[in-house]
Amino acid sequence: MLRRDLLFGGAALLGAAGLARLGSATAPPEAQDLVIQRAAYRLRAQDTLGMVSLSPDAPPPVLYGRQGQEMRFTVRNTLDDYTAMHWHGLRIANAMDGVPYLTQMPIGPGEGFAYAYTPPDAGTYWYHPHCMTMEQMAHGLTGVMVIAEAEDPGFDSEEVINLRDFRLDAADAFLPAYTARGAARGGTMGNLQTANWRQGPVYDHGAGSLVRLRVVNTDTTRIYKLYLDGGTARIIAWDGHPVRVVLPVPRAGAPLLLAPGQRVDLAVAMPAEEGRQIALMADLPGQPPRLMAGLRSVGSGSRRDLAELKPLPRNPVAQPDLERAELHEFVFGWTPEGDAPNDGFCGTLGYTFWSINRTPWAGDAAKDVGPLAVLERGKTHVLRLRNESPNQHPIHLHGLAFVPIASNRRSLPPLWTDTMLLLKDEVIDIALVADNPGDWAFHCHVIEHQKTGLTGFLRVT
Ligand code: C2O
Ligand code: CU
Ligand code: CU
Repeated sequence: MLRRDLLFGGAALLGAAGLARLGSATAPPEAQDLVIQRAAYRLRAQDTLGMVSLSPDAPPPVLYGRQGQEMRFTVRNTLDDYTAMHWHGLRIANAMDGVPYLTQMPIGPGEGFAYAYTPPDAGTYWYHPHCMTMEQMAHGLTGVMVIAEAEDPGFDSEEVINLRDFRLDAADAFLPAYTARGAARGGTMGNLQTANWRQGPVYDHGAGSLVRLRVVNTDTTRIYKLYLDGGTARIIAWDGHPVRVVLPVPRAGAPLLLAPGQRVDLAVAMPAEEGRQIALMADLPGQPPRLMAGLRSVGSGSRRDLAELKPLPRNPVAQPDLERAELHEFVFGWTPEGDAPNDGFCGTLGYTFWSINRTPWAGDAAKDVGPLAVLERGKTHVLRLRNESPNQHPIHLHGLAFVPIASNRRSLPPLWTDTMLLLKDEVIDIALVADNPGDWAFHCHVIEHQKTGLTGFLRVT
């Protein structure tokens, strides 16, 4: 089945059972208001002011949807700055993608924008602004989206863990989100690691139950090195998409790299005994391992086994035809410092350090800048991603899912993704079917790199 059919003819293709589940196929769901606003929250000892969220005193909520069902959001901007909302990983219509100038005009102070789309894929995704990106994300506006499978996969409960750093001074006020030194290298790290804006929260789940743990790295910079301490678990999805291979569960000494933008879903079997804890730990440079979040067993339920879970159903991603693929090459590297990106409504860091194919992006409001590549619609394309720098880059492509097929440095499992971590000097070939037309942003998800040149877009005709 073609994905576009699913997008535009979903109700018809779902058949009678699907229609019953959808309720009325004609009545669109009511739009949910997402009000971007200033917030205050106690991240540490004192309230941190000047945060950005969707309510005055809480982290951005998890937004829930269901595969194949329409979602509507009215984003309202109460800030003094411009904004635009992007739905990271969702393969939706280009006009709903939330990229200023490329897909919509920025949302001005006091203005709103109505987003409506139907997620074709189930899985763990997230949302964040794509205008004033550094300012608004660093101050907190990064939230998780859960798109439920059309059929219940059989967990007892789930937990969503939104990992991110904040950069605070001793009085818990914000430090500048970036430094020129950081932007020109690996990025400027935060100094307070949080899960759901808390330090090491512990969540209760039934003893012996099966929990779906959705872990999302929404940080602007940090590549988290994560592992589980205790319990039995299995990785069931990566960057939204079900995995079809057996991946090692990350343990102490062999952590999993989760770069900005990436997500991992784990099926976790809670200990049968009450009061035991499974810990999601992070290795941080030069520090003892840190508890990011815990799952604690409570009560006494029936003891369930991971083997009871069926594999998650595949998402409707088209399979590449490598025999007929077209190759496109991209080089990610430094650029001699040139003019600062132009200072449009969407903010500039004031520097240019990075480039794609030797061309630094000229700023969010870049006019007359063409696509890095034009991909013929419906065809398979191989993108060769070459990292010419000693820094790591999580390279993200909007609107399409892709799969790595080769690396010069490691053997990569064939995991569908939208964000590929390129190691130092690594060259990775990724494959995709260009089945979603439009201009799709293509950039590093270290926001300092994105905002100092490492950005462009691909056009699917
Ligand atoms: Cu998660 Cu272009 O972004
Ligand atoms: Cu995205
Ligand atoms: Cu980068």
